[in-house]
Amino acid sequence: MTRPPETRRDETPRDETRRDETPRQHLDRLWARGRALLGTDTAIMGGAMSWVSERTLVAAISNAGGFGVLACGSMGPDLLAAEIEATQALTDRPFGVNLITMHPELDALVDVCLARSVGHVVLAGGLPAGATIRRLKDGGARVLCFAPATALARKLIRLGVDGLIIEGAEAGGHIGPVSTSVLAQEILPAVGAEIPVFVAGGIGRGEAIVSYLEMGASGVQLGTHFVCATESIAHPAFKAAFIKASARDAVPSVQLDQRFPVIPVRALRNKATERFMAAQQEAIDRFRAGAIDQKAAQLEIEHFWAGALRRAVIDGDVESGSLMAGQSVGLVKEEQPTQAIIDTLIAQAEATLAARAGVAGEPARPDAAAPEARPAARPEARPEARPGVAGAAAPAATADPVP
Ligand SMILES: Cc1cc2nc3c(=O)[nH]c(=O)nc-3n(C[C@H](O)[C@H](O)[C@H](O)COP(=O)(O)O)c2cc1C
Repeated sequence: MTRPPETRRDETPRDETRRDETPRQHLDRLWARGRALLGTDTAIMGGAMSWVSERTLVAAISNAGGFGVLACGSMGPDLLAAEIEATQALTDRPFGVNLITMHPELDALVDVCLARSVGHVVLAGGLPAGATIRRLKDGGARVLCFAPATALARKLIRLGVDGLIIEGAEAGGHIGPVSTSVLAQEILPAVGAEIPVFVAGGIGRGEAIVSYLEMGASGVQLGTHFVCATESIAHPAFKAAFIKASARDAVPSVQLDQRFPVIPVRALRNKATERFMAAQQEAIDRFRAGAIDQKAAQLEIEHFWAGALRRAVIDGDVESGSLMAGQSVGLVKEEQPTQAIIDTLIAQAEATLAARAGVAGEPARPDAAAPEARPAARPEARPEARPGVAGAAAPAATADPVP
């Protein structure tokens, strides 16, 4: 796997389409720093999803021009080594590995990544130790971390990370309390010029990608949107649940008692969601009655979801398993090849930029925006008068095959 060149700051104004550039060139300018950091055609990261983001999907995302990220989850060093090697056999494009910082064998997992020349490691699950970041960087890997607030973003920059991911509460899986839109407004103006920042949580269309890039992001990370990729090994029943669900079905876990914390996880509501409430209540009642101590009650609550994601993703047990999903699940309508998913996002982003140019009197393509939304084009702005522009963006009517 080749490591990408050092990233440079893009001094070009981001918010205007130049006369001589196509929507794709504009998009590439917007996410230039993200692409340079990842070494990819697009700055779309396929966020690591435990059990879902294995070799096949990760390689498919990278081969389609995105950046796949292997989910290490609870794998030990040997399993991770085998998974990295299998992914390298399926793609020669860059991909990353997601390590959970509280993994008991974190150091060994870092060694496994470095020994196999993994170009990028995403550290998740809490603030990483400076020593872990340094060891990865000294070993030649780029390091990306999640920043849940500006102060922590600054701290991670001081610790030497190469990129940040900000993930809002709309996302699937473990979540923080703040929405993507608010995190973006808080963190992008503060550090977006200093370091490439990738926005995650709730993204399912190219329009949203463009808007975060225009706010100062260097790229995006999507998880939920890739679950139903044809190459995803998720069980057909898991995919069917995604395709059926609407945004409001993806709900955060509920905590019944302040004394017994529940890690917030966003997942599709199912029988297990209801049973979890009952299980919490039962543990709390037994604690109140003096039958068990607080620690034992807490453990009972925590054990409820043990193995539940695997049961749903791999075994297809969508009733007693955990159906981790983000709110953008409502935008997932069918199983589609990974390449088609990425192409659709790009076409939507290009059509957005083409339409903006049209609104500004510089239509990049006549059919990219509703005619009534655009002023009459000046002769020199007509696409046919500008080499390289006509045909650059897919027409709006066909850019979005998602019904
Ligand atoms: C089923 C599932 C499992 C996930 N597992 C992980 C994980 O193991 N590590 C991690 O850092 N993020 C995990 N995530 C979060 C994703 O990497 C990604 O950041 C998130 O899905 C982006 O938001 P979206 O779901 O709105 O697209 C998971 C998400 C889902 C839906």
